[in-house]
Amino acid sequence: MNALVMDAGRRFARLATRAVVARPALWRLFRRPLRAQFDALAPAWEELLGPEALAPLAASLDRLEGPPARVLDVGTGTGKAARLVAERFPDAEVLGVDLAPAMVEEAHRLLPPELAARVRFQVADASALPVPDGAFELVVLLNMIPFFDELRRVTAPGGSLVVAHVSGPSTPIWTPAETLRARLAPLGFDSFEELAAGGGTALVARKTTAE
Ligand SMILES: C[S@@+](CC[C@H](N)C(=O)[O-])C[C@H]1O[C@@H](n2cnc3c(N)ncnc32)[C@H](O)[C@@H]1O
Repeated sequence: MNALVMDAGRRFARLATRAVVARPALWRLFRRPLRAQFDALAPAWEELLGPEALAPLAASLDRLEGPPARVLDVGTGTGKAARLVAERFPDAEVLGVDLAPAMVEEAHRLLPPELAARVRFQVADASALPVPDGAFELVVLLNMIPFFDELRRVTAPGGSLVVAHVSGPSTPIWTPAETLRARLAPLGFDSFEELAAGGGTALVARKTTAE
């Protein structure tokens, strides 16, 4: 893929993120082209981001109060974050979901056999997740558009949410920490913590035990 096409793709992803965060109903306009974009990127995605991409997420996991039993990686791509979380928490069950079938295929292909019993991948849309309410003690987004109502619904009371960006504000799919806080607080998230690591940033939040 040439540099011009890559640059246009980044701009489109940024536009989609801003639009959908501001007005979630606009997702129906962006869903198809974004899925096509990430399906096309899937074969090369794993190599596009180096190991430093995981630094803000890894640092966030150090801030959690205890090991989560069930983890959801939303917009998992090739499964980098899902694998990291599974390695960090050896007793956790991890589900990675992505809109793009080609990404999910890659995530399956790249999953080491020793993680296969605890890590699953599934094609699913983060705007309407096919999982029960409160199903996850940890929900992770790495370079992913936040669908706030679903994040509230699927995070268990007392559970944690991590929203990490590989290059901070330069990340194409980026939501500023102040927007995340403003949108998450009315949904029952608190104990916000911002951190920076490896050139990236992350926000950690905790879902209150009662709504
Ligand atoms: C920038 S990539 C990040 C992938 C992975 N988290 C990483 O950092 O390597 C964004 C991913 O989110 C997926 N995605 C975008 N919108 C989605 C949605 N509504 N539901 C599920 N996945 C979505 C895309 O298909 C893509 O794989």
